[in-house]
Amino acid sequence: PVSLKPDRSNGRLIVVSNRVPVPTASGAPAAGGLAVALQSALRSKGGIWFGWSGKASQEADREPQLRTLGSISFAVCDLTRRDIEEYYHGFANQALWPICHYRLDLARLSERDAAGYFRVNEFFARRLAKMLRPDDVIWIHDYHFIPMAAFLRQLGVQNRIGYFHHIPWPSPDTASAMPHYDRILRSFSSYDVVGFQTEPDADNFRDCLIESGAGRAVDGNWCEAYGRKFQVDAFPISIDAEAFALEARLAERNTLVKRMRASLEGRAMIIGVDRLDYSKGIKHRIEAFGAFLERYPEAAKARVTMLQITPKSRSEVPEYANIQNEVAEEVGHLNGKLGDIDWTPLRYINKTMSQSALAGLYRMARVGLVTPLRDGMNLVAKEYVAAQSPDDPGVLVLSQFAGAARELKSALIVNPYDIGATAAAIARAIEMPLEERQDRWRDMMATLRDNSIDHWTANCLQAISGESEADLEGSLH
Ligand code: G6P
Repeated sequence: PVSLKPDRSNGRLIVVSNRVPVPTASGAPAAGGLAVALQSALRSKGGIWFGWSGKASQEADREPQLRTLGSISFAVCDLTRRDIEEYYHGFANQALWPICHYRLDLARLSERDAAGYFRVNEFFARRLAKMLRPDDVIWIHDYHFIPMAAFLRQLGVQNRIGYFHHIPWPSPDTASAMPHYDRILRSFSSYDVVGFQTEPDADNFRDCLIESGAGRAVDGNWCEAYGRKFQVDAFPISIDAEAFALEARLAERNTLVKRMRASLEGRAMIIGVDRLDYSKGIKHRIEAFGAFLERYPEAAKARVTMLQITPKSRSEVPEYANIQNEVAEEVGHLNGKLGDIDWTPLRYINKTMSQSALAGLYRMARVGLVTPLRDGMNLVAKEYVAAQSPDDPGVLVLSQFAGAARELKSALIVNPYDIGATAAAIARAIEMPLEERQDRWRDMMATLRDNSIDHWTANCLQAISGESEADLEGSLH
């Protein structure tokens, strides 16, 4: 019998993101869990990963540079200095990022940046359109590229296009501070599927469509706006917990991990790992660690050292330069006040570390502090849990404002603005009996096993390629 279902699953996959993990000359794969998962999806379907090269160049030579490895092509374009300033440092990181993280006080609203953002999106859309085949499925990632599908549609692209928003989506009163809010909202209606990290994010987005008068919710997870019907859903991103657990076990032999263990001289370790970003709550966390040391001197002094690994990020943006200085000052202040000749309570490092070293350090840490003021998901929380040894697991202290808190309910959930409560949670984590640690860990690990990154990729792709819709149509006929 001839199937009446439209078969959209044979097309290639086209992934679009601002950063593209182009393999190095030696062909070494990108390390991060998301990059690995997307590459495995690309490998099985064949396809292209398209985006910015991370470099600046002159107007003339900005056609995509291609590098093909097996069934995957990496295609990246340079941008001009002005593009980078307006689109990346400007609109993406000084308007959309702070607004999506509820920091209207840090948002810079500039017409020039907004124009650059839309211009660069159109620039990328034109180059991508030339590479497309009719049955390709396109998956666009993150806030840099919200208007990409609208430009592709203008160019006549009729393929299935999905978007995933990796960061929070705020409620309408906050979101409406976005410059060109109406145009941004309208841009979403060019997608077939719009994915968010959590239900509250997806709800906020639907509320934005409704409150602005642009659209309405229909049939559960569907929205109708600007004359188009599209799916709006939560797809909480995850990790490959088994693979990460294995990496952590193997990393016990990592030299850096051994050096760290030796240097602790029997003290318990508390770990924090974050990009240097104001959304991560690093200053509040250091204050809370200081409060813990002062309020619980017996538990603290002889027995604890904190390691905060914080690679610098987006340093050209003034708010990032400011937070770098503020955190460094806070660290110096704490160590000066509370340290001793043979004890530095807080070790602070701006280096990036390999995934293997991080996995080993997480496993060694008695407490993982993941206390962002706002975060889409936060995969450090999930990785910390996966890295623990079942026999002697550490305790996750997790902000209620991280998307991960909706899933990792057996963590010690804290309000990161409440310094005293966070200090008390650190003390509780340090003192927690083995049995309670194991119960909490088992519960969280089961959650991670149920929703792996492969599961996430498959769910997103099924929605974007329209397979579930096709099933529905099939069942109605
Ligand atoms: C967040 C964003 C990503 C971004 C990453 C690093 O996780 O969701 O889209 O790539 O930060 O930031 P950067 O500006 O260095 O790409």
